[in-house]
Amino acid sequence: MAFEDLKKEVSVIVSKTTLPTKDRLTEICDALRTSIPYYNWVGFYFANHDTQTLHLEAYAGEPTEHTVIPFGKGICGQVAVSNENFLVEDVAAQDNYIACNIHVKSEIVVPLFKEDKNIGQIDIDSNTPNAFTEDDERFLEFVCTQVSTLLL
Ligand code: SME
Repeated sequence: MAFEDLKKEVSVIVSKTTLPTKDRLTEICDALRTSIPYYNWVGFYFANHDTQTLHLEAYAGEPTEHTVIPFGKGICGQVAVSNENFLVEDVAAQDNYIACNIHVKSEIVVPLFKEDKNIGQIDIDSNTPNAFTEDDERFLEFVCTQVSTLLL
């Protein structure tokens, strides 16, 4: 499915106000994972700024034991402090990386802002090397902006 169609689908899911937020986040993860062949794992982590940790709130794909990640640790933890998108062409070349699954070859993490504060992120793992481009960045920025509207 093209990103433009998927954007519409994401907007529809976000607007399902009768569904709990967590369910809507899971639906978005499922929609992205089933629509884009190289999105093998899709998840949302949210930040606890008091404890300086990220917490997995919703995901699609294999379960992971990394449900809590300290700020600064791994690709996700680095994005919690950098506030910038992180595209990893080859996860094996990263020193500060937390492996969730041996099949993963590349990864993208895009921060999620609410009122200019970095409150979480979307994380995508791919089993395809160097899978992500600027088109994924722009699409995932759209998803994060949409999701920020459904959070308190
Ligand atoms: N690879 C991530 C950890 C989360 S898993 O991909 C689900 C990282 O290095 O932060």
